[in-house]
Amino acid sequence: MTGRAWYQLFHADAFEWLPQRKATSVHAVVTDPPFGIIEYSSDQLSKRRNGNGGIWRLPQSYDGQNRSPMPRFTVLQPKDRERIKEFHSKLAPLLMRVLVPGGHVIIASQNLFLHFVMCAFVDAGFEVRGQVARIIKTLRGGDRPKGAHKEYPEVSVTPRTCWEPWLVFRKPCQGRVSDNLKKWWTGALRRPEEAIPFSDLIESNPARGIERKIAPHPSLKPQAFMRQMARASLPLGKGVVLDPFMGSGATVAAATAVGLNSIGIEKDKEYFRLADIAVPKLAQLELTTATTTG
Ligand SMILES: C[S@@+](CC[C@H](N)C(=O)[O-])C[C@H]1O[C@@H](n2cnc3c(N)ncnc32)[C@H](O)[C@@H]1O
Repeated sequence: MTGRAWYQLFHADAFEWLPQRKATSVHAVVTDPPFGIIEYSSDQLSKRRNGNGGIWRLPQSYDGQNRSPMPRFTVLQPKDRERIKEFHSKLAPLLMRVLVPGGHVIIASQNLFLHFVMCAFVDAGFEVRGQVARIIKTLRGGDRPKGAHKEYPEVSVTPRTCWEPWLVFRKPCQGRVSDNLKKWWTGALRRPEEAIPFSDLIESNPARGIERKIAPHPSLKPQAFMRQMARASLPLGKGVVLDPFMGSGATVAAATAVGLNSIGIEKDKEYFRLADIAVPKLAQLELTTATTTG
């Protein structure tokens, strides 16, 4: 950690906070938003906290270990599709306003609905710059026909997900990329090393061990991956990274760890409190094989 990076955490609804933020004052957005269905609504979170299920279900136990509940859906209903479209159609113009020209948005998505997210961001004026495939083997089941595993043993209902798409958008640059870099510090992505371009295929284990102990959020993203995303988002290492849906603060911690200034917003009071405690601890974690696989 450089010690020079600052961060600010806000307990707020991003849809209320963003319109209040000064225009062209954010240099990148790195975020893992709620899917846009109802999994992070206050009544579903209460059900999860009281152990009453709701959309959160316990995944099958494959190895005798206790697993955290995950949001349950494999097919989107028309009302889910509408909610997702509405969520991203509201979000994209708000991000467009606060970003400087050339600012990137790197946003976690899901193969079942990323087309809605793409449409919303393109409609708001963003350029599609690609997708980062986070290669991840989850224990998410659901690929066998429900209640008919034995009858149709040779069948997979959906492709078993082994990767998570992180969509990459850019607010159009002013002039050439080099002009934009000079004026706004943005317009490109930072290379991991001078000789190595930022690539769109990254292997990443789920957050485990010490990270989960520090930040027991149901959607915690691992520092090893988030530090790569945060670093890539600011090509010159200058500016501010925003995560409007920070959860336990994995993006803010990652930005801090790689020496970047950042802002995190979280609507839920418990997760906001968790982030407040978890961010400095996650930021200080030295990543070793033990912390990333333990
Ligand atoms: C997928 S989680 C992010 C988890 C995060 N990547 C981490 O590693 O901890 C999305 C978060 O957004 C929060 N959230 C949902 N709607 C929000 C809103 N309108 N404004 C701010 N936060 C919101 C949820 O409470 C949840 O904690």
